[in-house]
Amino acid sequence: FLVEKGNFRHFMAKEMHEQPEVVAHTLAHYLDMASDTVQLPGNLPFDFAKLERVSIAACGTAYYAGLVAKYWFERYARLPVEIDVASEFRYREAPLPANGLSIVISQSGETADTLASLRYARDAKQHLLAVVNVPTSTIAREADVIMPTLAGPEIGVASTKAFTCQLATLAAVAVAAGRARGVISAAEERSLVHALVEVPRLMNEALKLEGDIEHLARSFAKTQDVLYLGRGTSYPLALEGALKLKEISYIHAEGYAAGELKHGPIALIDEKMPVVVIAPHDAVFEKTMSNMQEVAARGGRIILITDATGAAKASLETEATLVLPDMHPLVAPLVYAIPVQLLAYHTAVVMGTDVDQPRNLAKSVTVE
Ligand code: G6P
Repeated sequence: FLVEKGNFRHFMAKEMHEQPEVVAHTLAHYLDMASDTVQLPGNLPFDFAKLERVSIAACGTAYYAGLVAKYWFERYARLPVEIDVASEFRYREAPLPANGLSIVISQSGETADTLASLRYARDAKQHLLAVVNVPTSTIAREADVIMPTLAGPEIGVASTKAFTCQLATLAAVAVAAGRARGVISAAEERSLVHALVEVPRLMNEALKLEGDIEHLARSFAKTQDVLYLGRGTSYPLALEGALKLKEISYIHAEGYAAGELKHGPIALIDEKMPVVVIAPHDAVFEKTMSNMQEVAARGGRIILITDATGAAKASLETEATLVLPDMHPLVAPLVYAIPVQLLAYHTAVVMGTDVDQPRNLAKSVTVE
C-alpha cells in the first residue's frame, strides 16, 4: 500500500514527528493502564525468574536499542545481558546457557545477520524472542515469541520511529522481567508504568526544540567531525547520534562513552570540533559534567542536551544547550532520541543530501 509524506519534506521528518503517536500505540500494547502494570501479550514459553542470562543480537540502530535494553535488564531485573552486533554474535562461538533466552531486534525482520543469529540461537536451544516491526517478516515467523513494535511502515533508510518503538517495547519487557524476578515491587512497577505513560507528552516537548536545532545544524554542516558523548543509557544514545549523523549527512562522527574520552578522543578536541554531550540529570550526571569540563578546558565546542535540572546545575559555558523537561531516568533514552535525530536530519538538509535514500545504504540489508 501507499505510504505518503503528507506535509513533510522527507519521510524521515514525517517519521520523527509520528513518534509520540506510534510510541503511545506501542506502549498501549504492553501496558495495562487500568492496573498500572505491564502485561506482555501471549504466554511466554520461558520464565524470567529462571533465566541466568540473556543474549541480544541486532544490527545498526536496532543494536543500539539492544544496548539500552542491556542497562535496563541489568538495572531493573538483575538479569545479566550479553549483547553483540549480529555479524559478530553468530561467529564468535559464544557458549549459551541451557534454556537461555536470545533476543533479536529488527525493524525489517529480514536483516541477514540478525536472522542468522536467530537461527544460531535456535540451534543452541535458546528461547527466541524477536522485537520486530514487520509482523510478516522471516524473523517474526521463525521466533518463538514476537514482541511487535507498532511503528507502522518506516520508509526513511535511517531508522527513527522504529528505534523508539523498540525502546518502548524493551522497556516493558525489562519491567515485566523485573517483576517476575522479584526485583521490583508492585509499587515500583506502577511508578515505572507511570513514567512510560508520560513518554508521548515528553516527546512532543522534545519536538518543540526543532527550531533551535535547525539553527544549530547550520554550523554543524560546516564541520568535518563531531563527537557524541554519554554515560549509562546515554552512551548508546551517543552511538546512535553519531550513526544518524554519518548515515544521512556524511559528516564523520563518533559516539563514545563519556568516561572513555580521556583514553583517546580527547586528543582530537580543538575549537573546531563540536562535542555533543547527552546528559540527563541522572545518577551519572556529575561524572559526565567532569568529562565535559575536560572538553571545555581544551577549547572544545560543547552542545549539551540535558533537562531543566541539568541545565541549572551545569556550570560551564556551552555553545548551545538543548533543554528537555525533567523525567524518570527509565524513559530518558526514548525522549533524548528526538533531539539527536533532529540534529542529524537538519544537518543533512543543510548539506543537501538525499535524506531518505542516503548513498550506499539500504533500508534492509539481506546480504552478509
Ligand atoms: C540498515 C538500516 C538501519 C537499520 C539496520 C538494521 O543498516 O539502514 O537503519 O538500523 O539496517 O535493520 P533492521 O531492519 O534489522 O532493524
